[in-house]
Order: sequence, then structure tokens, then C-alpha cells
Amino acid sequence: MEISYLRISVTDKCNLKCFYCRPEGMEFFEKEKLLSFEEIRNFVKALTKYGLKRVRLTGGEPLLRKDIEKLVKMLSQIPEIEDVSLTTNGITLARYAQILKKNGLNRINVSIDSLKPKLFYEMTKGNLEDVLEGIKVAKKVGLTPIKVNAVVIRGVNEEEALDFVEFAKEQKVEVRFIEMMPLGQGQIYWDLDMVKPLDLIKQKIEKKYGKLIPTTSVGSGAARVYYIPKYDIKVGFITPISNPFCDGCSKLRLTAEGNIKLCLRTEEELPVKDLLRYGTQEDLDNFIRHLLIEKERSNAQIQKSNYSFSECRRVMTSIGG
Ligand code: 5AD
Repeated sequence: MEISYLRISVTDKCNLKCFYCRPEGMEFFEKEKLLSFEEIRNFVKALTKYGLKRVRLTGGEPLLRKDIEKLVKMLSQIPEIEDVSLTTNGITLARYAQILKKNGLNRINVSIDSLKPKLFYEMTKGNLEDVLEGIKVAKKVGLTPIKVNAVVIRGVNEEEALDFVEFAKEQKVEVRFIEMMPLGQGQIYWDLDMVKPLDLIKQKIEKKYGKLIPTTSVGSGAARVYYIPKYDIKVGFITPISNPFCDGCSKLRLTAEGNIKLCLRTEEELPVKDLLRYGTQEDLDNFIRHLLIEKERSNAQIQKSNYSFSECRRVMTSIGG
């Protein structure tokens, strides 16, 4: 198995409180518990020997990690790394976009679950205006193409699908709809009834805009991406529930405190922090070889369990979304 892509969570802190994600009163990790930038870089470097080419910084909210732009620079300077991207909620993006671009960040994904300010606030406790301003600045400095992620929840924001398509056209961004997964806080009340099968959204879009044309999407492989000729835009669908995309998955996550999470569907994590802190290069190499075997085993097991989600207590903010 080749690992060409790694998601790196740099903090478990977040400045939003999406109702489906984070429980009240969550305690965050102490700073010493987090991997340092050097440790992250060393891990990324070690993985380049096994095919790593693209990294994505996430959180929590990655822009809350102090000096995040320095990490961007350190990673973008690794010769084998062709693409450094970042997933943000956009709240403080306007402030950081320029320095991030200057330091080698290529592009961003921005999470927006509603385009209605009131509903956005109800869902996230944040201000939509801040996010839109962030997107504006990001476009200006060339952090593009921008992808907007929207978790679609039945009875909450499902009626906004067409608004998101219009938004994509106006803003020249790609929009990607995501089915809600039973993770973290979401698990407490997650119910299949809350998941809007995205096929229905796709049909609705086709009815209005004509047939969607499949593209061969590059990236981590989770999204099925389509082209809308009428608007010259792309829309993507991420369907972990109605249509799992696990076969052949080589996605790995590095958590903020230094564990490798093999998959969102299981609790399995392999700690790597101590190795990075105290081990030799050889130890690290051995770990990575072991990791690749474990990922294949985990894939097979998930397939056998019919792609179920086992109890995952960690919330998305501490996993890396
Ligand atoms: N199901 C689906 N998506 C989720 N996200 C957070 N929690 C969940 C969940 N339970 C999304 C965020 C963001 C991305 C990083 O992950 O809304 O768009």
C-alpha cells in the first residue's frame, strides 16, 4: 500500500461549537501533549519514503495553533511534498490567508453548513460574515481552488442544497456535501433518520441544472465529484453512510497528540509521539512499515463488518476532520 496523503490535526481547539460535533465543557490538551512542529515535520519526512506527496492540516480549527504559518513553511519546503492544504472553519481566515499563502499553502477547504446567517449561528455559534470575508481574502491571495464542505442534516439544512450550488457559481468555489457520521457528540443522538442520502440531493440538483457529469476526481478519494456544465462548477458528494468508499482506502490521520488514526469507523489508534520524541530513524521506519500492514488489516476488517461505525468516543475536533 502506498500512502500518498496524510491529514494532520494540529490542535483539538475550535472556535465554533457545531451542535453535532463538540460536547459542552470539553477539555483541551495541554500544549506539551501536542506534537511539536519539528515532530510533525519528521514524521512527514519519514512518510515521503513510502509515497507521501500531499498533506492537509486540520484541527480542531488549525488556525488556532500558534504560529501555524511556520509549520506550513516547514512542510512546503520538503521537496517530495507537492501539495500543502488546510481545512478551516474560516472564522479567522481573513487574518491568516496572506501569510499562509506566502509560506507555501496551496489551497483551502472551508466548512459552511448553512448560508443563512441565523441558521449558521444556530448550528455553529459562529458568524457567517466572518467566514465569507475569509473566503474573499483567500481568493484574493490565491489560496485556490477553494472547496466548501457542507454537512447535510435532514430537517436542518437539507433544503439549502440548491442555494449551495448558486453560491458555488457566484463564488467560484467547489461545494461538497457530506453525510453526517455517528462521531463524538453526534453519536449521542445520531440517527439514520438524520442522514440525508446524498443521492436525493444529487437528483434535485440534476432536475434543476441538467445531468451531472462525473469527473475523475483527484484527492483523497472520498468525494465523488461531478461537473455542472451550465455553471462551469463542480459539486462533490461524500457518502460514508449511504455509499461507503472504504475499499482501497489509504487515508491516515495524525492526531494532534501524536497518534495515527487508521479510520473514522474504528477507535484504533497507533501512538507515534514517543517514537518521534525519543526513537531512532530506524524505529520510525519500522513503525511505518507496521502501520501500512495495520491499515490493510483494518480495511479488511471494516469491509467484513459491513462498514459499520464502532463506538467512536473521540469528537471530530480531536481527530482531525
Ligand atoms: N459527520 C460528518 N462530518 C462531520 N464533520 C464534523 N463532524 C462530522 C460528522 N459527525 C465535518 C465538519 C467539517 C469537516 C472537517 O468535518 O463539518 O466540514
